[in-house]
Amino acid sequence: MSVNKFKGVRACVFDAYGTLFDVHSAVGRHSARLPDASAVSILWRTKQLEYTWLRTLMGRYVDFWQITQDALNFSLDTYEVTDAALQQDLMQAYLELSCYPEAPKVLEALKEKGFRCAILSNGSAEMLNSAVRNSALQDFFEAVISVDSLGVYKPDPRVYQMAVDQLDLQPGEIAFQSSNAWDAAGAGAFGFKVAWINRFGQQAERLGTLADAELKDLGGLPDLL
Ligand code: 2OP
Repeated sequence: MSVNKFKGVRACVFDAYGTLFDVHSAVGRHSARLPDASAVSILWRTKQLEYTWLRTLMGRYVDFWQITQDALNFSLDTYEVTDAALQQDLMQAYLELSCYPEAPKVLEALKEKGFRCAILSNGSAEMLNSAVRNSALQDFFEAVISVDSLGVYKPDPRVYQMAVDQLDLQPGEIAFQSSNAWDAAGAGAFGFKVAWINRFGQQAERLGTLADAELKDLGGLPDLL
């Protein structure tokens, strides 16, 4: 008989960007105005994450809006895009990212099963609240937790501790969902039960911890718990 690794879970905590919201939907909305939209979007996201890790290591925190802007400018300069209006439009689109199609019904199912739900993200409070409201998800979350009050980024363990403190639960009572394998590894190392939402069929990271479950999207989460 298989052991239910998620036994005792009382809350589901979600990463935002890449897990609930499609970070590539920002460029997707303006792809006709870009020479190589997919490459611009991939470099934008890659740099955005790199800057969160590097600034945390450097002790030079700035908020996720600034990092997102800096990463976008790196990517647009790399692809020699000089349209200032497009840069503004892309940043505005980041406040209105599309949520993945399965997210609302999964959150509804979790609510019906009595699980508490929260977001734990690198995003600033303003960015997260904008994205959550734009997808009408606000009624599903009892907390939207931003690293901004802490001043360090994931996977610093102090970030995951924020969810423990705010929900007043033990780490093992929290199921953490992220499509970002490095974030899933950080959460597992901290002590959460982890479902890695492997949307892009990636290899597991070699970071010393393995997720408790791997799903291709959020659809399988309610039956897992
Ligand atoms: C988030 O914290 C990792 O960017 C991702 O939402």
